[in-house]
Amino acid sequence: MEIDLRSSMFSPPPLPAEYQLVQWSAGLIDAHAEAKFHSFCYEIDANVFPCLGEREGCLRLMREIAKRDGFLREATWLLAHNDGSDSYDYCGTVQGVRDSDFGAIQNLGITMPHRGHGLGTYLLHRSLLGFREVGLNKAYLEVTAQNTGAVKLYHRLGFRRVKTVYKAADVAYA
Ligand SMILES: CC(C)(COP(=O)(O)OP(=O)(O)OC[C@H]1O[C@@H](n2cnc3c(N)ncnc32)[C@H](O)[C@@H]1OP(=O)(O)O)[C@@H](O)C(=O)NCCC(=O)NCCS
Repeated sequence: MEIDLRSSMFSPPPLPAEYQLVQWSAGLIDAHAEAKFHSFCYEIDANVFPCLGEREGCLRLMREIAKRDGFLREATWLLAHNDGSDSYDYCGTVQGVRDSDFGAIQNLGITMPHRGHGLGTYLLHRSLLGFREVGLNKAYLEVTAQNTGAVKLYHRLGFRRVKTVYKAADVAYA
């Protein structure tokens, strides 16, 4: 699905006080991988991309993304949640890379207990702003067609479907 970044973009909801947006740094690879794993491990995308269903697979994927030529720190963000104690848990992640003239959103994920509060919309918006900051006018993402919740969300935010790609997936039989 694609979105034009030149037109006025959707407005993100405010970030609730107990959440903090964390800018990319190389030391956060593990935190991104952990948030990615907890966001995707029980989701349909983990059937299509099995590495998303494994902790080690998510770490490998994060390392690969961070090493890509087009990796954009401006479009890569983490969300931390603080429940009032001293510790944080990382509950959301998005990564962005430049793919010729496009910004490409990599796996946007919010962990289960934190969904439905606008955090996915917020992170996506921040990542798209990052694409704009480096001069990109268009962005795309790939989403599994059966992931109807996410498709509905992206559609509502202004993304439009441009093509359907078919991928082979292993199916487990009981
Ligand atoms: C997609 C995702 C990032 C949305 O995060 P979120 O913080 O819940 O999103 P928001 O609160 O900003 O928006 C909620 C909207 O998401 C949509 N949505 C996305 N996934 C959904 C799901 N599994 N079930 C129900 N609704 C879902 C709904 O349309 C909801 O709209 P509503 O507010 O009108 O009910 C999150 O559900 C997630 O991490 N899912 C698993 C990973 C994934 O599929 N990522 C997208 C692949 S590219």
